[in-house]
Amino acid sequence: MKGIILAGGRATRLRPLTKVITKQLLPVYNKPMIYYPIETLVGAGIKDILIIVAPEHAGNFMNMLGSGRDFGVKFSYEIQDKPRGLADAFIVGENFIGKDNVTLVLGDNIFDHDFSGHIKAFKGGAAVFAKEVHDPERFGVVDFDKNGKALSIEEKPAKPKSNYAVVGIYSYDNKVIKYAKNLKPSDRGEIEITDLNNIYLRNGELQVNLIDGIWEDAGTFDSLLRAGNIMEAKAKAGSKK
Ligand code: TTP
Repeated sequence: MKGIILAGGRATRLRPLTKVITKQLLPVYNKPMIYYPIETLVGAGIKDILIIVAPEHAGNFMNMLGSGRDFGVKFSYEIQDKPRGLADAFIVGENFIGKDNVTLVLGDNIFDHDFSGHIKAFKGGAAVFAKEVHDPERFGVVDFDKNGKALSIEEKPAKPKSNYAVVGIYSYDNKVIKYAKNLKPSDRGEIEITDLNNIYLRNGELQVNLIDGIWEDAGTFDSLLRAGNIMEAKAKAGSKK
């Protein structure tokens, strides 16, 4: 299993914070934001990690993160020249992925869930993770039948069918590259990870796992502040033990 962190994008919702600094290097309490998704992958046992960045910030990421030795892993870098959407990670990352399976984490998503069991157990198809939230319309939303089987995933629906948001970590087998290449851009001009997940769902190859614990998508002022406060409380609780 290889890992990808998607850390490009426009970060328009955090302007003017992100006018010269890229979102994923902003502080979340005592670390740059991207440390959290790195720790999520490293904690899951993934040692070969591609970091996808926007051209204007590539140098800053390399200065900050280097070879990966500090984390005990290997980092590679690719540039996404335009933010074409989350599913573009598998096109930009094609050479890096090679013939392997891959887990993608979004560069602004913060978890304290241990994914190592899921990664070890991954056999093929796709595995996504969902969490109950009070603002599902901001996310991909998955709804289930009474046996817990996923029925549909809708991207940012005006009328969500459930309160379960698909969070920003996804595992796929190697078919993801082929599927990503065949996607058509959505109305907002991006190739959507929800469309990829729906291909696996239709093929009966999508596993949806519920997670508990912290999950923040730190891409808005409120969620960035919340993430900082949560990580402060966690760090202080840990240091008192
Ligand atoms: P988003 O938060 O969906 O997009 P964004 O970061 O461009 O922000 P905004 O909506 O405020 O303009 O992106 C989630 C993560 O994926 C984040 O780390 C940026 C990254 N990303 C890319 O690297 N390339 C892309 O094409 C997109 C859409 C996002």
